[in-house]
Amino acid sequence: MRLLASLLLCLCIPAAWAAEANAPKLDIGLGGQCVKDTQWMRKNHMHLLKHQREETVRKGIREEKDALKNCVECHASAGDNSVTAREDSFCVGCHRYAAVKIDCFECHASKRKATLAKKDEQ
Ligand code: HEC
Ligand code: HEC
Ligand code: HEC
Repeated sequence: MRLLASLLLCLCIPAAWAAEANAPKLDIGLGGQCVKDTQWMRKNHMHLLKHQREETVRKGIREEKDALKNCVECHASAGDNSVTAREDSFCVGCHRYAAVKIDCFECHASKRKATLAKKDEQ
């Protein structure tokens, strides 16, 4: 019985992992703690951003924690400071895989402030 149980465990866990492994490997950025837990973010981050945009633009309410620039500060690659520059860049890597197209970075910075500041100095 125990042998059967462990055999099933061996068969099922890799199957679940394989499904996950189809998703692209993302450059998460600096690490640390996301604004909400990962599972929740995976499903709901777009609502957080859109809600925040409505509140800020229409009503002038700001919650810095959920601001788009905060996401970029953390999730931009340590290599190029960007969330969009490469295949595995955080936002774009997953969106390309999921066939989602967002226009946010036409107006909002896709790079961590540190690099923008440096660029200005040059
Ligand atoms: C302080 C750093 C930090 C900030 C700020 C932050 N995140 Fe995260 N986020 C993380 C880390 C670290 C993970 C990965 C956690 C893990 O692997 O369990 C994560 C996970 C995620 C995921 C799920 C990724 C996956 O693999 O499924 C999404 C989507 C996400 N974040 C979007 C955002 C958005 C949008 C914002 C801004 C509203 C944001 N994050 C702000 C650190 C941050
Ligand atoms: C045409 C330009 C433009 C586009 C495209 C755009 N935004 Fe914005 N967004 C703005 C402006 C302007 C503000 C107000 C900035 C301020 O008050 O400092 C803003 C504010 C925000 C805010 C609240 C402030 C902040 O820094 O987080 C969020 C969140 C946001 N936008 C998210 C998004 C998302 C998500 C998308 C893509 C779906 C997007 N925006 C596309 C121009 C744009
Ligand atoms: C783990 C995968 C993943 C990551 C990482 C990710 N997204 Fe998404 N995002 C999605 C998926 C999937 C959708 C579409 C969901 C839907 O249509 O219901 C989406 C949708 C969105 C939308 C709404 C688009 C629309 O027009 O409705 C915005 C805005 C957005 N993401 C912003 C971001 C930003 C900014 C980042 C980086 C900080 C990011 N996402 C990282 C998977 C991801």
